[in-house]
Amino acid sequence: MRHFPVRTVRRRVVGALAVGVLAGAGLAVPAAAVPDTPATAQAPATAQAPITAQAPAVSRAPAASQDPSLAQAPTLDDGQALTPPMGFNNWNSTHCRAEFNEEMVKGIADIFVEKGLKEAGYQYVNLDDCWALPQRDANGKLVPDPKRFPNGIKAVADYVHSKGLKFGIYTSAGTKTCSEIGFPGGLGHEDSDAQQFADWGVDYLKYDNCNNQGVDAKERYIKMRDALKKTGRPIVYSICEWGQNKPWEWAKDVGHLWRTTGDINDSWGSMLSIMKQNLPLDAYAGPGHWNDPDMLEVGNGGMTDTEYRTHFSMWSIMAAPLLIGSDLRKVSPETFDILGNKEVIAVDQDPLGKQGTVLSSEGGRWVVTKEMKDGSRTVALFNETGSAQRIATTAEDAGLPAADGYSVRDLWQHKSYNTAGTLAATVPAHGTVMLRVAADGKWASYPPAAELGLDGGTLVESGKTATVTSKLANLGRTPAREVTTALTGPSGWTVEATSPTTAGTLAGGKSLRTTWKLTPPAGATPGAYDLTLKAAYDSSGGKAAQSLPVTTHVVVAPPAGTSQLSALPRLSATNGWGPVEKDTSNGEDQAGDGSPLTINGTVYAKGLGVHAESAVEFYTGGKCSKATAQVGVDDEKTTNGSVTFEIWADGKKAASTGVLTTADAAQTLTADVTGAQTIRLTVTDGGDGIDSDHADWAEAQLTC
Ligand code: GLA
Repeated sequence: MRHFPVRTVRRRVVGALAVGVLAGAGLAVPAAAVPDTPATAQAPATAQAPITAQAPAVSRAPAASQDPSLAQAPTLDDGQALTPPMGFNNWNSTHCRAEFNEEMVKGIADIFVEKGLKEAGYQYVNLDDCWALPQRDANGKLVPDPKRFPNGIKAVADYVHSKGLKFGIYTSAGTKTCSEIGFPGGLGHEDSDAQQFADWGVDYLKYDNCNNQGVDAKERYIKMRDALKKTGRPIVYSICEWGQNKPWEWAKDVGHLWRTTGDINDSWGSMLSIMKQNLPLDAYAGPGHWNDPDMLEVGNGGMTDTEYRTHFSMWSIMAAPLLIGSDLRKVSPETFDILGNKEVIAVDQDPLGKQGTVLSSEGGRWVVTKEMKDGSRTVALFNETGSAQRIATTAEDAGLPAADGYSVRDLWQHKSYNTAGTLAATVPAHGTVMLRVAADGKWASYPPAAELGLDGGTLVESGKTATVTSKLANLGRTPAREVTTALTGPSGWTVEATSPTTAGTLAGGKSLRTTWKLTPPAGATPGAYDLTLKAAYDSSGGKAAQSLPVTTHVVVAPPAGTSQLSALPRLSATNGWGPVEKDTSNGEDQAGDGSPLTINGTVYAKGLGVHAESAVEFYTGGKCSKATAQVGVDDEKTTNGSVTFEIWADGKKAASTGVLTTADAAQTLTADVTGAQTIRLTVTDGGDGIDSDHADWAEAQLTC
């Protein structure tokens, strides 16, 4: 049902096709303009006054939180969006399907109130594309689709307002919107459309970029800014040009937020790629002007709850707008727990308005910190990889002053601890531990923080016994007493401690290590199994308990000789669109919807069809020597695909290509994987987002 790639292609040609339509609209059309060329490279035929000359009178004093070098452009400074906007938008859950209608929108407003989301800060209930009829009326006015909105838009806005909420709408800074049908866009109709929105009681406008006729982005977005201003109604203005013209460099005095990337979809790979594009832009965000890495997918079903918690944590630490994109009438209680986590929301909504900064990101172990108004720091320990990782930093590295101890609030556990300075956790695959750390002198009233970890045992061959070591480290200033640890496995597994599992006292800085023997039942089916490592202790700050989920894979040794990787069991697989495909290209949605693997005209019978960002892991058990494949962008994408292929052996990069595009022939990629326990085939987005990144590992073979 999702048509993003089709739409991507269309988006790139329409600007060129439809030149001329605008002549009657009185807008000059630049020669040979391409919508996805950065604004600076476009030479508009019209002479344009510099932006600053068109800007309304505003205060030029940069906010204290901003890097002065970025403060040349004044902000809108109209008192709106002083913290990132929070609310709902239907697009990610409905696209243009019929269920996007008055009933849905009202239902969401009701749920905002009933489920406490309004109270948690969610405010805007926004319509996306497809709310209108394809034609304007005789007076050039927009006409709501009577099937979806039989009582018009004002009635819906009134309903939303009656709940104490605000109402938003969508159109495009082009001749038509982005949907296949193409509803009327605002280009050349800015004043009339803005007035119509204001008359309906609109409080928020998302202004998209499709069918923009190659007109300079600044010019288009400034026109609508000025039109909105003329209405006299405060309307939050969301610029949606997908980061194509680097709006973070010029849009501070144009809109309150700007998209920094292409569209998100409900997959780990897409979310990750967007996160990585948005993280480096931290210096550009601040009160009234936010980077927008697109709307939330939490609750839409394409990611696990662990992944959705990461999505929500990272959007919050990036001070991103929090626009819920799932149909709240149908979501699970876990979804409400995630979206309603007030401690995480408080990170997003912190009035200082800083976007978190990347402190380190080695080997997919990310530490991101955010300065908070009260002087505390939020620290996200985010694990990008497919296996549990220890991620650590210190309170001082996170920006806090030296102190005897610090209080640490775990924002997902909702518990407080003390630490002598170390902030560390074993973070499950794709998980995020989110901590708020303060040098507030209150540390002694909390139990010491404990770090739980497990060495070994994540891979066990069926019928064999693995030895694992658990470690409970006291990171605090105060002793832990009556310490106990326990490791439990699924039914049928034998888990035996072969050294003490308890300690009377564990001083700060000390650890309790326990060795365990772990045996899956004979004939256990290969695959992932969940174990739990637990610890409990007492302290002067009260009792505390920790629990660490541990994933163990029962694995089979790969056969001797050369095998097709597509025929071997995978340890894990993540993909930017739909599932990783066996022996076909990536069809994007369901398993089995791909086409024959084809790179520059050559068809391959075997291999893996993936979509960036992608990672596929295999067990090699120290018995293999070589992994090799013919790699390239699949021919089903004719433009815009650009990726790199990498082969990793036990967490070390063993081989990689440079950036390969749709124009490149297949390249042979071979890695020496001698001695490795696992290998991982990774496809990155080539640095430009995941649009059209259909990548083939053709004839992918493993020699053991
Ligand atoms: C573009 C935007 C999306 C959504 C659709 C609607 O792709 O980036 O967020 O609004 O258009 O067609």
